[in-house]
Amino acid sequence: MNAKKRAFSGIQPTGKVHLGNLLGAIRNWVDLQDVYDCTFCIVDWHAMTVDYDPSQMRARILDCAVALIASGVDPNRCTLFVQSDVPEHTELAWYLMTCAPVSRLELQTQYKDKSAQHAENLNAGLLTYPVLQAADILAHRAEVVPVGEDQAQHLELSRELARKFNNRFGFVFPEPETVLTPARRILGTDGKAKMSKSKDNTLDVLATPDELWAKLRGAVTDEQRLRRADPGRPEVCNVFSWHRLLSPETTVAEIEGACRAASIGCIDCKKKFHESLLAALDPIRAKAEALYANPDAVFAMLAEGAAKARRSARETMALARARCGFGPPPV
Ligand code: TYM
Repeated sequence: MNAKKRAFSGIQPTGKVHLGNLLGAIRNWVDLQDVYDCTFCIVDWHAMTVDYDPSQMRARILDCAVALIASGVDPNRCTLFVQSDVPEHTELAWYLMTCAPVSRLELQTQYKDKSAQHAENLNAGLLTYPVLQAADILAHRAEVVPVGEDQAQHLELSRELARKFNNRFGFVFPEPETVLTPARRILGTDGKAKMSKSKDNTLDVLATPDELWAKLRGAVTDEQRLRRADPGRPEVCNVFSWHRLLSPETTVAEIEGACRAASIGCIDCKKKFHESLLAALDPIRAKAEALYANPDAVFAMLAEGAAKARRSARETMALARARCGFGPPPV
C-alpha cells in the first residue's frame, strides 16, 4: 500500500521556463518528490487556448521537459508526462463542466485578464480552462497541489467542482489542498507585474549568462533612487527581493547595508545578483545541454510517465463513469 499522499501540479509549455516558474513552483516540486507520491504534467491542451504554431509544439514540450528535468524533477521519483497523452483528462473535464456554473467561470481573474489580452480569439477554452485544470488534478485523485499564488483561485474552483461532483453522483474525489510555495509571487524585470511568459519581463532558466545580464541590466529597481549618491530603499526594490530568494544571507545583508548607505549603485547590486543567478542556473544549463543532446531519451521518459499516468486516470474514470451511470453496473 502506498501511504504517501498524492500530489499533482502542471506547467504550460508556453515560452521559456523562467525564474518565476523555478522559484514559484519547480523548486518546490523537486523538494516534495520524496514527501508525496508526485505527478507533474506538461499541459499542452491548456496552451491551445491561445493562437500557436502546431509545428512548434513538440519543441516547446521538449524545452519544458528539459528545463524541468535539468532543475531536478526526476522521472524516477515522480510521474512526469504530457497532458495530451492521457485523454481521460478531457473526458473528466466534460463531466466537471456539467457541474460548473458559467457565472462562476466568468468571475475567474485569469479569464478576465486573458479575455482582455486575446479579445480577437475569445474561445470557450479560455472560459473553461480552470475546469480542465480541475480535471488534471482530480483524474489522479490528488490531495495536494503545489503552485504559485496566481493559481490559488483556480484551485478553489477545483475544490468546489470535486464537492459538487461528489454531492451529485457519490464520492470519487478528495478535495485537493493548495500548497503555496515559499516564493509565491515573483515579479518580472519591470518590477511591477508577475514574471510571466506572456510578458517580456522574464529571466529564463536556460538563458546564457550574457542574455541574463542583458535582461537584468534594464531591470527596474527603486524608482525614487535617481542618482548613485541617493540612499536606496531595498524594501521597495524588486532586484533586492530576488537577492533574498537566491543570494547567500551574508550577501543579502551586505547589499542591504550598502544600498541604504549609497555605497553601491544599482548596477553593482545587479552584478552581484547576476553572480547568484549564475550559481543557481549554471548547473541547470549544463544538465539541459546533456538532455538536448538526446531528445529521444527525453521523449521516452515522458512516454513512460504517460503510461503510469494513464493507469491512474483510467482507474479514476472507471469509478467516475460508474457513479454517473455509464457503462456496466459496478460489481
Ligand atoms: P503556469 O505554466 O503559468 O505556471 C507554472 C507554475 O509556475 C508558477 N508561477 C509563478 N510562481 C511565482 N511567481 C511567478 N511569477 C510565477 N509564474 C508562474 C505557477 O503558479 C504555477 O505553479 N494553469 C497552470 C497550469 C496547470 C496546473 C494544472 C497547475 C494546468 N493544470 C493542475 C496545477 C494543477 C498554469 O498556467 O501554470
